[in-house]
Amino acid sequence: MSKIKKIIIANWKMNPTNLKEAKKVFTGIKRTAIKLSNVKTVVCPPFIYLDDFAPLCKENKISVGAQDAFSKNKGSFTGMISPEMLKKNGVTFVILGHSERRALGETDEFINNKVRMSLKTGLNVVLCVGEKERDEHGWYFPFIKDQLLSGLEKVGKSDLKNILIVYEPVWAISGNSGGQSMSSAEVHEMTIFIKKVLSDKYGINTSLPKILYGGSVNPKNAEDIFVNGQIDGLLVGKASLDIEDFGLILKIANKI
Ligand code: 13P
Repeated sequence: MSKIKKIIIANWKMNPTNLKEAKKVFTGIKRTAIKLSNVKTVVCPPFIYLDDFAPLCKENKISVGAQDAFSKNKGSFTGMISPEMLKKNGVTFVILGHSERRALGETDEFINNKVRMSLKTGLNVVLCVGEKERDEHGWYFPFIKDQLLSGLEKVGKSDLKNILIVYEPVWAISGNSGGQSMSSAEVHEMTIFIKKVLSDKYGINTSLPKILYGGSVNPKNAEDIFVNGQIDGLLVGKASLDIEDFGLILKIANKI
Protein backbone atom coordinates (compact mmCIF):
# COMPACT_ATOMS: atom_id res chain seq x y z
CA MET A 1 0.00 0.00 0.00
CA SER A 2 2.91 2.35 0.61
CA LYS A 3 3.55 2.85 -3.13
CA ILE A 4 0.07 4.25 -3.73
CA LYS A 5 0.18 8.00 -4.16
CA LYS A 6 -3.37 9.07 -3.30
CA ILE A 7 -6.16 7.04 -1.86
CA ILE A 8 -9.82 7.92 -2.21
CA ILE A 9 -12.32 5.86 -0.26
CA ALA A 10 -16.06 5.82 -0.91
CA ASN A 11 -18.11 5.14 2.20
CA TRP A 12 -21.59 4.42 0.92
CA LYS A 13 -22.97 3.90 4.43
CA MET A 14 -26.45 2.25 4.21
CA ASN A 15 -26.94 3.17 0.53
CA PRO A 16 -28.05 2.51 -2.21
CA THR A 17 -31.16 0.63 -1.20
CA ASN A 18 -31.02 -2.01 -3.95
CA LEU A 19 -28.39 -4.02 -5.82
CA LYS A 20 -29.37 -2.68 -9.23
CA GLU A 21 -28.63 0.89 -8.19
CA ALA A 22 -25.48 -0.20 -6.31
CA LYS A 23 -24.16 -1.92 -9.47
CA LYS A 24 -24.85 1.18 -11.52
CA VAL A 25 -22.89 3.42 -9.14
CA PHE A 26 -20.04 0.92 -8.77
CA THR A 27 -19.70 0.49 -12.54
CA GLY A 28 -19.71 4.25 -13.03
CA ILE A 29 -16.99 4.74 -10.43
CA LYS A 30 -14.90 1.89 -11.79
CA ARG A 31 -14.99 3.33 -15.30
CA THR A 32 -13.15 6.42 -14.07
CA ALA A 33 -11.01 4.73 -11.41
CA ILE A 34 -9.24 2.32 -13.76
CA LYS A 35 -8.07 5.16 -16.00
CA LEU A 36 -6.20 6.99 -13.24
CA SER A 37 -2.53 6.24 -12.59
CA ASN A 38 -2.06 8.37 -9.51
CA VAL A 39 -5.01 7.24 -7.39
CA LYS A 40 -6.20 4.11 -5.67
CA THR A 41 -9.99 3.94 -5.26
CA VAL A 42 -11.65 1.87 -2.55
CA VAL A 43 -15.42 1.43 -2.57
CA CYS A 44 -17.05 0.42 0.73
CA PRO A 45 -20.64 -0.64 0.06
CA PRO A 46 -22.99 -2.30 2.55
CA PHE A 47 -21.83 -5.88 3.35
CA ILE A 48 -24.55 -7.45 1.25
CA TYR A 49 -23.13 -6.04 -2.01
CA LEU A 50 -19.47 -6.95 -1.37
CA ASP A 51 -19.73 -10.36 -3.00
CA ASP A 52 -20.97 -8.81 -6.22
CA PHE A 53 -18.21 -6.23 -6.44
CA ALA A 54 -15.10 -8.00 -5.11
CA PRO A 55 -14.70 -10.16 -8.26
CA LEU A 56 -14.80 -6.97 -10.36
CA CYS A 57 -11.72 -5.59 -8.62
CA LYS A 58 -8.90 -7.46 -10.31
CA GLU A 59 -7.02 -4.28 -11.20
CA ASN A 60 -4.91 -2.72 -8.50
CA LYS A 61 -6.60 0.63 -9.10
CA ILE A 62 -9.89 -0.25 -7.45
CA SER A 63 -10.67 -2.41 -4.42
CA VAL A 64 -13.60 -3.07 -2.15
CA GLY A 65 -13.68 -2.41 1.54
CA ALA A 66 -16.12 -3.23 4.33
CA GLN A 67 -17.65 -0.60 6.61
CA ASP A 68 -16.92 -2.66 9.72
CA ALA A 69 -15.69 -6.07 10.93
CA PHE A 70 -15.92 -7.91 14.22
CA SER A 71 -13.07 -8.43 16.69
CA LYS A 72 -13.08 -12.23 16.37
CA ASN A 73 -12.82 -14.57 13.44
CA LYS A 74 -15.47 -17.13 14.42
CA GLY A 75 -17.93 -18.08 17.11
CA SER A 76 -21.37 -17.38 18.50
CA PHE A 77 -21.70 -13.70 17.66
CA THR A 78 -25.09 -13.10 16.13
CA GLY A 79 -25.13 -10.63 13.29
CA MET A 80 -21.37 -10.15 13.10
CA ILE A 81 -19.04 -10.45 10.10
CA SER A 82 -15.46 -11.54 10.70
CA PRO A 83 -12.29 -10.13 9.12
CA GLU A 84 -11.56 -13.62 7.80
CA MET A 85 -14.91 -13.87 6.01
CA LEU A 86 -14.19 -10.53 4.37
CA LYS A 87 -10.66 -11.53 3.36
CA LYS A 88 -11.84 -14.84 1.89
CA ASN A 89 -14.39 -12.97 -0.19
CA GLY A 90 -11.87 -10.65 -1.79
CA VAL A 91 -12.30 -7.66 0.52
CA THR A 92 -8.99 -5.91 1.21
CA PHE A 93 -9.90 -2.84 3.28
CA VAL A 94 -12.06 -2.30 6.35
CA ILE A 95 -13.25 0.95 7.92
CA LEU A 96 -13.08 0.79 11.73
CA GLY A 97 -14.05 3.31 14.37
CA HIS A 98 -16.31 5.39 12.14
CA SER A 99 -18.11 8.02 14.23
CA GLU A 100 -21.49 6.62 13.19
CA ARG A 101 -20.50 3.30 14.81
CA ARG A 102 -18.95 4.98 17.83
CA ALA A 103 -22.30 6.76 18.27
CA LEU A 104 -23.92 3.32 18.58
CA GLY A 105 -21.76 2.60 21.60
CA GLU A 106 -18.47 1.22 20.26
CA THR A 107 -15.68 1.88 22.73
CA ASP A 108 -12.01 2.58 22.00
CA GLU A 109 -11.14 -0.82 23.45
CA PHE A 110 -13.60 -2.65 21.20
CA ILE A 111 -12.33 -0.73 18.18
CA ASN A 112 -8.72 -1.58 19.11
CA ASN A 113 -9.65 -5.29 19.28
CA LYS A 114 -11.18 -5.05 15.82
CA VAL A 115 -8.13 -3.19 14.49
CA ARG A 116 -5.77 -5.87 15.76
CA MET A 117 -7.85 -8.78 14.49
CA SER A 118 -8.28 -7.20 11.07
CA LEU A 119 -4.54 -6.55 10.78
CA LYS A 120 -3.73 -10.07 11.95
CA THR A 121 -6.09 -11.41 9.27
CA GLY A 122 -4.36 -9.38 6.58
CA LEU A 123 -6.84 -6.58 5.92
CA ASN A 124 -5.86 -2.96 5.43
CA VAL A 125 -7.37 -0.97 8.28
CA VAL A 126 -8.93 2.45 7.76
CA LEU A 127 -9.04 3.81 11.31
CA CYS A 128 -11.32 6.83 11.81
CA VAL A 129 -10.89 9.43 14.51
CA GLY A 130 -12.64 12.75 15.01
CA GLU A 131 -14.06 15.03 17.65
CA LYS A 132 -17.80 15.65 18.03
CA GLU A 133 -17.39 19.37 18.45
CA ARG A 134 -14.74 22.06 18.79
CA ASP A 135 -14.16 24.22 21.82
CA GLU A 136 -12.15 27.40 22.15
CA HIS A 137 -9.64 25.79 24.53
CA GLY A 138 -8.55 23.14 22.04
CA TRP A 139 -9.64 20.12 24.07
CA TYR A 140 -10.18 18.35 20.78
CA PHE A 141 -6.41 17.89 20.49
CA PRO A 142 -6.02 15.58 23.51
CA PHE A 143 -9.31 13.93 22.51
CA ILE A 144 -7.92 13.01 19.08
CA LYS A 145 -4.63 11.91 20.63
CA ASP A 146 -6.55 9.58 22.96
CA GLN A 147 -8.62 8.08 20.16
CA LEU A 148 -5.50 7.49 18.08
CA LEU A 149 -3.43 5.95 20.85
CA SER A 150 -6.30 3.77 22.07
CA GLY A 151 -7.14 2.62 18.55
CA LEU A 152 -3.50 1.71 17.94
CA GLU A 153 -2.75 0.14 21.31
CA LYS A 154 -0.50 -2.93 20.94
CA VAL A 155 -0.24 -2.27 17.20
CA GLY A 156 3.40 -2.58 16.22
CA LYS A 157 5.47 -0.64 13.72
CA SER A 158 5.40 -3.49 11.21
CA ASP A 159 1.62 -3.11 10.87
CA LEU A 160 1.71 0.59 10.05
CA LYS A 161 2.04 -0.04 6.32
CA ASN A 162 -1.43 -1.61 6.42
CA ILE A 163 -3.10 1.26 8.25
CA LEU A 164 -4.69 4.45 7.02
CA ILE A 165 -5.73 7.10 9.51
CA VAL A 166 -8.81 9.14 8.68
CA TYR A 167 -9.40 12.40 10.45
CA GLU A 168 -13.12 12.92 10.22
CA PRO A 169 -14.56 15.55 12.56
CA VAL A 170 -18.11 14.51 13.35
CA TRP A 171 -19.40 18.06 13.07
CA ALA A 172 -18.13 18.32 9.47
CA ILE A 173 -19.91 15.20 8.17
CA SER A 174 -22.50 16.34 5.62
CA GLY A 175 -25.48 15.06 7.58
CA ASN A 176 -24.41 17.15 10.59
CA SER A 177 -22.97 20.21 8.90
CA GLY A 178 -25.34 20.81 6.02
CA GLY A 179 -22.44 20.12 3.67
CA GLN A 180 -19.97 22.58 5.21
CA SER A 181 -16.50 21.00 5.35
CA MET A 182 -13.68 22.05 7.63
CA SER A 183 -11.27 24.67 6.29
CA SER A 184 -8.12 23.36 4.62
CA ALA A 185 -5.99 25.29 7.15
CA GLU A 186 -7.68 23.41 10.00
CA VAL A 187 -7.21 20.12 8.14
CA HIS A 188 -3.51 20.92 7.78
CA GLU A 189 -3.17 21.73 11.46
CA MET A 190 -4.75 18.41 12.42
CA THR A 191 -2.62 16.50 9.90
CA ILE A 192 0.51 17.86 11.57
CA PHE A 193 -0.86 17.04 15.00
CA ILE A 194 -1.70 13.45 14.04
CA LYS A 195 1.77 12.95 12.52
CA LYS A 196 3.31 14.26 15.73
CA VAL A 197 1.28 11.86 17.89
CA LEU A 198 2.25 8.96 15.61
CA SER A 199 5.93 9.82 15.46
CA ASP A 200 6.04 10.25 19.25
CA LYS A 201 4.61 6.73 19.54
CA TYR A 202 6.53 4.99 16.77
CA GLY A 203 9.72 7.02 16.46
CA ILE A 204 10.75 9.87 14.27
CA ASN A 205 12.30 7.71 11.55
CA THR A 206 9.32 5.42 11.11
CA SER A 207 7.37 5.56 7.90
CA LEU A 208 3.96 6.71 9.11
CA PRO A 209 0.51 5.69 7.85
CA LYS A 210 -1.17 7.84 5.24
CA ILE A 211 -3.54 10.45 6.64
CA LEU A 212 -6.90 11.05 5.01
CA TYR A 213 -9.61 13.61 5.63
CA GLY A 214 -13.36 13.02 5.63
CA GLY A 215 -16.33 15.37 6.10
CA SER A 216 -18.41 17.06 3.38
CA VAL A 217 -15.85 16.56 0.62
CA ASN A 218 -17.19 17.47 -2.81
CA PRO A 219 -15.76 18.39 -6.23
CA LYS A 220 -15.66 22.08 -5.23
CA ASN A 221 -13.53 21.74 -2.08
CA ALA A 222 -11.51 18.58 -2.86
CA GLU A 223 -8.53 20.34 -4.44
CA ASP A 224 -8.18 22.92 -1.66
CA ILE A 225 -8.43 20.24 1.04
CA PHE A 226 -5.89 18.07 -0.75
CA VAL A 227 -3.32 20.73 -1.55
CA ASN A 228 -3.61 23.04 1.45
CA GLY A 229 -4.70 20.39 3.94
CA GLN A 230 -1.61 18.34 3.01
CA ILE A 231 -3.42 15.04 3.18
CA ASP A 232 -2.80 11.75 1.37
CA GLY A 233 -6.39 10.94 0.59
CA LEU A 234 -10.08 11.35 1.29
CA LEU A 235 -12.95 9.41 2.82
CA VAL A 236 -16.08 10.49 0.98
CA GLY A 237 -19.66 9.84 2.06
CA LYS A 238 -22.53 11.54 0.24
CA ALA A 239 -20.60 12.56 -2.88
CA SER A 240 -19.38 8.98 -3.37
CA LEU A 241 -22.91 7.93 -4.33
CA ASP A 242 -22.97 10.38 -7.21
CA ILE A 243 -21.03 8.93 -10.16
CA GLU A 244 -20.29 12.33 -11.64
CA ASP A 245 -19.23 14.07 -8.41
CA PHE A 246 -17.10 11.17 -7.23
CA GLY A 247 -15.53 10.83 -10.68
CA LEU A 248 -14.58 14.51 -10.51
CA ILE A 249 -13.05 14.05 -7.05
CA LEU A 250 -11.00 11.11 -8.35
CA LYS A 251 -9.77 13.13 -11.32
CA ILE A 252 -8.86 16.09 -9.08
CA ALA A 253 -6.82 13.81 -6.82
CA ASN A 254 -5.16 12.24 -9.82
CA LYS A 255 -3.85 15.51 -11.19
CA ILE A 256 -2.49 16.87 -7.90
P1 13P B 1 -19.90 13.03 3.99
O1 13P B 1 -18.87 13.03 2.89
O2 13P B 1 -21.29 12.77 3.50
O3 13P B 1 -19.77 14.22 4.87
O4 13P B 1 -19.58 11.75 4.91
C1 13P B 1 -18.35 11.66 5.47
C2 13P B 1 -18.24 10.33 6.08
O5 13P B 1 -18.81 10.07 7.12
C3 13P B 1 -17.43 9.33 5.35
O6 13P B 1 -17.12 8.28 6.19
